[in-house]
Amino acid sequence: MSLVDSSPIDPPGPPGVIEIDVVPEALPRLQALRAEYGDIVGFTAPKGRRAFFINDPGAVRQLLVRQHPKYRKGKGFERVEMLLGNGLIVSNGDVWRRSRTMIQPSFSRQNVHSLIELMIDCTNRKVHSWRSVAATGATLNVTQEMSDFALELILRAIFGTEYETHIVNDGDNPFAFLSQDATRDLSVVMKLRRLRELLLSIIAHRREAAQPSSYDFLSMYLKATDKKGESFTDRELLDELMTLIVAGYETSAGTLNWCWYLLAHNPDVQDQLQQEAAAYGTDYAGAADDPALANMPLAQQVLDETLRLYPPVWLFSRRALQDDILQDYRIPEGANLYISPLIMQRTADFWANPDAFDPARFGPDGPYKKGERPFIPFSLGPRRCLGEYFSFLEMKIHLGMLLQHFRVEPLDDVEPELDLGINLRSQNDIQLTLEKR
Ligand code: HEM
Repeated sequence: MSLVDSSPIDPPGPPGVIEIDVVPEALPRLQALRAEYGDIVGFTAPKGRRAFFINDPGAVRQLLVRQHPKYRKGKGFERVEMLLGNGLIVSNGDVWRRSRTMIQPSFSRQNVHSLIELMIDCTNRKVHSWRSVAATGATLNVTQEMSDFALELILRAIFGTEYETHIVNDGDNPFAFLSQDATRDLSVVMKLRRLRELLLSIIAHRREAAQPSSYDFLSMYLKATDKKGESFTDRELLDELMTLIVAGYETSAGTLNWCWYLLAHNPDVQDQLQQEAAAYGTDYAGAADDPALANMPLAQQVLDETLRLYPPVWLFSRRALQDDILQDYRIPEGANLYISPLIMQRTADFWANPDAFDPARFGPDGPYKKGERPFIPFSLGPRRCLGEYFSFLEMKIHLGMLLQHFRVEPLDDVEPELDLGINLRSQNDIQLTLEKR
């Protein structure tokens, strides 16, 4: 008798059929399941498939880290396949392993550090444009601003100078529509087709031209080889570039959007952050050479607390490739497993006063040691986010520099509604007022 057969336990769960997808209704459904049945719930999905909601931090770790080879990406990811083809986020098995090994070196700390000047430069543009907003007393649409900032930064980080020559040369940014729900209608399909043609023309241009002297992701991806010495084909490159843009853009934009909102409502934290960043001066000249720039402990705490409250990837899933056991529970082959950073990180059993903004939770005297927190905004294990270091550096530079120049204030006390799409956004754009420091 196999180990799985000898496990007698099915987790508690409701009768009937329950459908979970990455759609807004999934949040109340999963919250209700947890409230009634606990942190590991079993249920039947359409077509008789077994499904589980896993909110227990130990079981989540088991699933994503130790027992990761028994799972592949699950339901919900097919919705982004149209956009990402077989790129890193959606691929599985050997295809994923080969790409991950080829791409991982591009995200080394040293490589990411060579993008610091770019991060400073992109933030500086915001310093200039925000000055005019502050001067006129107009309100700042911080949601739109963060979208523009993060999109420009990731595109420049990938394409270097081709951002100007090939992408925004006629004014409009052809990638901007990605911030709308990219699965919606036919016009999006047409735009995506044009985007892929544009990317192919940039790849062709780059294959012919001399490699640029400055670092960018495209040059690293073009140089990457697998263990047989083979490089990415054009088709593979296309999928990996789209993946990088989609993965790297809305996630950082969303986090910064919520972070500015939280800072506007917490002026003391704003001032403390400004003081922490003051060491780099108002223009961050020379900051790129300072190894301490990546640390900024208070900024780290504030960003961690923002990601706890508003994790951009609020729900994701896995599919069991074989029978397995999580904790004492039987997981049959083919089951869908759902994990929600948003629910786990706001569970009162794991975090006291879970809906309150309190960056001290992540400080040295906070309730958890690093590595033991029920905190998974970047996932865990071999499929953990590759862009984590990049995004923290980007966000710390962005906040630190802008806070040298401005103080933000809320327009009202209304808490923004959540928009639970593939990424967690604010339902309406967040508007703030700006005051020059
Ligand atoms: C606050 C910012 C970000 C958050 C919260 C975030 C979150 C995540 C999460 C949760 C996953 C894994 C999903 C799963 O396990 O199913 C992931 C994967 C990934 N992320 Fe991020 N991400 C962020 C920023 C970025 C950036 C800036 C980049 C690139 C520059 C990036 C590149 C990737 C890639 C390539 C993967 C796929 C890794 C793999 O499957 O091997 N991410 N991200």
